[in-house]
Amino acid sequence: MKAIAVFPAHREVKLIEQEEPVITQPNQVKLRMVEVGICGTDKEICSFAYGTPPAGSDYLVIGHEALGEVVEVGAAVTHLTPGDLVVPTVRRPCPHEHCRSCRAGHQDFCETDDCTERGIKGAHGYLAEFVVDKARYLHPVPRHLREIAVLVEPLTIAEKAEYQLYPLMQRRPPWIDPEVSERAQGRGHTALVLGAGPVGLLGAMALRAREFETFIYSRQQAPDPRIEVAQAIGASYLSSQELPTSQLTARVGPIDLVYEAAGHSLLAFEVLRALGPNGIYVLTGVPGWQTLIEADLAALFREMVLKNQVVFGTVNAGPHDFSAAISDLEIFHQRWPDAVRALLAERTPIEQAVERILGRPAGMKSVISFRA
Ligand code: BGC
Repeated sequence: MKAIAVFPAHREVKLIEQEEPVITQPNQVKLRMVEVGICGTDKEICSFAYGTPPAGSDYLVIGHEALGEVVEVGAAVTHLTPGDLVVPTVRRPCPHEHCRSCRAGHQDFCETDDCTERGIKGAHGYLAEFVVDKARYLHPVPRHLREIAVLVEPLTIAEKAEYQLYPLMQRRPPWIDPEVSERAQGRGHTALVLGAGPVGLLGAMALRAREFETFIYSRQQAPDPRIEVAQAIGASYLSSQELPTSQLTARVGPIDLVYEAAGHSLLAFEVLRALGPNGIYVLTGVPGWQTLIEADLAALFREMVLKNQVVFGTVNAGPHDFSAAISDLEIFHQRWPDAVRALLAERTPIEQAVERILGRPAGMKSVISFRA
């Protein structure tokens, strides 16, 4: 079968032929892969700046934003049957007894960093025609979401952020109104999304679905399909080329929440200076190595203390976040079908995957499709 692999020692990315995997344990499931999305992490792996092959292998099969169809199940698998569509989680637990998070099934909060990530770190990924995985890592997706379900994994980033956000919002009584349903907890609050890539736009959809007044701040200028998506979901778009960070507060008012999805440290830092009183700042982008940033940390810390601000980083996602992403994608699909579809303008067959990953993306998100 075909797969896309990175050979870090030879600095090569190529289509390879591999043996089709087989079920060897009763709790396993065999999947025929349907689609795999490509993100910045894949690009970094393919430029040899990130990613680790499994122990004993000189290559890593990439791909972690996956959608597969069940073709066979092991004898102990009860919740899946052939024909089901599933999205796998990315991370697998570390082996250490003392890692409380992994032992509790929350490897997205692994304490040792010895967890593996399929397609990223120490385990082959999903950019292969067939994959075998344990049933407990597979989340069923309704068939009518097939065309957009490859967005589940990137949406889990926003879901995990939100999972952590609500307890933080509760520290300040008026944020959480018991009279208002959880779905509308953003009402009356301003959120700023940094970056208009798929993670930023999906995060903005999640915020709009919770009724946050949402602004997206990114470098694109009109006309641009990202700006059209922003408008379609009821968010306001601000171009960083037209509005400097120093004028953000004057333009949008006090910022209650920043959802950073740009992976650009200098921009992230400048926008942190614009965070409002009692504000919460969520960092999701993994910045590459950038030039040294000079900053007045004393002034920053002083502001953070005097304004009760919270900054937190979040990576990966747990089972709860995958279920939440599947439910939310259903909502987005009902409310903004064209905007969701616009993120996935084009599909690339596996034979052209390497050119697509190394070259220019197809639309907002590149998707490799195994459809015949
Ligand atoms: C993936 C996460 C992963 C992170 C760090 C992201 O692109 O979506 O699952 O934990 O990279 O490797």
